[in-house]
Amino acid sequence: MLDPCAAPIAVFDSGVGGIGVLREVKRLLPHEDLLYFGDSAMAPYGEKPKEAIEALVLQHATNLLKTAKALVLACNTATAVAAKTLRAKYPTVPIIGMEPAIKPALTVSPRPRVLVLATEATLREEKLRALLRAHAAQAVFYKCPAPGLVRLVEAGLGDSAEADRYLHDILAPFSGRNRPDAVVLGCTHFPFAKAAILRHFGTDMPLFDGAVGTARELARRLDAEGLLNPTEHKGSITLTSSSPVVLPVYEKLFHLS
Ligand code: DGL
Repeated sequence: MLDPCAAPIAVFDSGVGGIGVLREVKRLLPHEDLLYFGDSAMAPYGEKPKEAIEALVLQHATNLLKTAKALVLACNTATAVAAKTLRAKYPTVPIIGMEPAIKPALTVSPRPRVLVLATEATLREEKLRALLRAHAAQAVFYKCPAPGLVRLVEAGLGDSAEADRYLHDILAPFSGRNRPDAVVLGCTHFPFAKAAILRHFGTDMPLFDGAVGTARELARRLDAEGLLNPTEHKGSITLTSSSPVVLPVYEKLFHLS
C-alpha cells in the first residue's frame, strides 16, 4: 500500500485566487508535493446560486481526493458554501477552509469600522453572518461585494488602471465618515489587488487576509494526524486549471514574491 504521507496536498479555488494560499503553504511546508486546481473555466463562483457552487466544489474535491491526502479550500466562497457537506462526505480527510480575517482586524482601534470585501455568495452565507454577529459589539461592519475585481484578477489585471477605476466606483460609499479603519479581504482573489486597494485608501490602510492562517491550520492538522511528509526533498508544485489558457496567470502570480 502507498504511504499516505507521501501523497500530495490538493489546493483548490474557483480560479487564480488560491495561488496566494498555495504560496503560503509552500513556504510553511516546503517538503510537501502540492497539487493546485483552479476552476477558471467556471469562475467567478461568487455570483452563482449556492446549489451550483456546491455541485462544482463537490465534483472537483472528489476528483482531487482520489490522489490527495488533504484538501485546502483556498476559496472563501467554496468554504462558506460547501465545507460542511465535504467534511461530512470525507470525515477522515483533513479539509481546511478559509476563515475571513475578522478577528485580527478588530485590533486596529477601539470599536473600528471594518470593511469586509468578499463575494456575494460569501456575504449572504450564514458562516460569515454568524461571525459578524459574534463580533457586533466590538466593531461596525460594512460589507461590499466586488465581482468585477474577481474578473480583473482572473485576467491578470488586479494591479491595473482598470482595477483602480473599478475600486473607485464600488468603494465610493466608504469615504468621509464611513471610511473604514481596516479592510478584510474575504476572497482569495483580492490580495492580488492589494496594491490597487492601497492606492485607493492610502498605504496606511491595514489589510487582512486569511492565507497565512489557513496554511498554519493545514500544518497543524497534518502534524496532529501524522500525515506530514517526512522526506528531506523539496516538494513539487503542479498547477492545473479547467481553463489551461489561464495557466500563465497562475504561474506569474505564484512567482510574485
Ligand atoms: N476566490 C474565491 C473566494 O475566495 C471566489 C472568487 C469567485 O467568485 O470565483 O471567495
